[in-house]
Amino acid sequence: MRHSVLVARAAFPDLVDRLRAHFDVETNDDDRVFTPDELSRRLQGKQGAITTGSERIDAAVLDANPQLRAVCNMAVGYNNFDVAACTARGVLCTNTPDVLTETTADFGFALMMAAARRLTESEHFLRAGRWTKWSYDLLAGQDVHGSTLAILGMGRIGKAIARRGHHGFGMQVIYHNRSHLPAEEEAAVGARWVDKTTLLRDADHLVIVVPYSAESHHLIGAAELASMKPTATLTNIARGGVVDDAALAEALAARRIAAAGLDVFEGEPTVHPDLLALDNVVLTPHIASASIATRRAMFGLAVDNLLAALGCGPNAGRPPTPINPEVLAAAR
Ligand code: GLV
Repeated sequence: MRHSVLVARAAFPDLVDRLRAHFDVETNDDDRVFTPDELSRRLQGKQGAITTGSERIDAAVLDANPQLRAVCNMAVGYNNFDVAACTARGVLCTNTPDVLTETTADFGFALMMAAARRLTESEHFLRAGRWTKWSYDLLAGQDVHGSTLAILGMGRIGKAIARRGHHGFGMQVIYHNRSHLPAEEEAAVGARWVDKTTLLRDADHLVIVVPYSAESHHLIGAAELASMKPTATLTNIARGGVVDDAALAEALAARRIAAAGLDVFEGEPTVHPDLLALDNVVLTPHIASASIATRRAMFGLAVDNLLAALGCGPNAGRPPTPINPEVLAAAR
């Protein structure tokens, strides 16, 4: 039987054609973000879907679509999936790890540097015609080289950021994570595990790369921000909701910390209005993985996963990056 699949958002047409070779494919060329009801309707009669972080796959969507076999996220994060609900119904979930690690680490580092060195604030100052003279402290920020890089969460992207800090910028790298890295991995990126209190206290530049979950909700709030140095910066490239954005806006306004770089937001694409009003925060629209090459690699991997999940292509039955592989084992 020829399967039907949904590509829930606009995507690279030549890569969508790889799906068309095997499936009937419905696309969303207008790139509208579907409401949950519309997503459920579009999934009717589909065995598989490629989704992004904007499409929530939960029990309601699954119950409305019992024919669904696989949902393949074009993202490494998958907090838009209720994985337990998918597993209970035998629906395979996949994501796109590895292919975006270096690009995302590049961007995290850039955002941290932009916050520390007041890059966007400086550009706004210049464009506004306010640059009339050199001054000894004009837009002076915080050094990155030789400072303490504090990483919250230490998965693939955390390690790639640690490597940049340690080898490229001579930073002392500390991290906090549920699990410790093996000693040789710590040595390779010059990183030392510390408890969360020490991480926040000693951070010159805190970079957050921990996945979002009920446990990581508001991991950084008013109390945590109050325990940081007034010269410190905070960069969030993980997920909105890990940081309490209202508390962060307050801390930035009161200069309890020096600056922030944010690529992700609670309730995005809406951004907390108090953040928009501040000049000591660099704001970007969730683009950390957005190089052309990496976005192609992410979509290509999502296509590979969907083909394999529905029994097609060279990896038939063996999707490269399953989140709940127990579904595959149960089907065998
Ligand atoms: C982006 O946020 C991703 O999870 O890939």
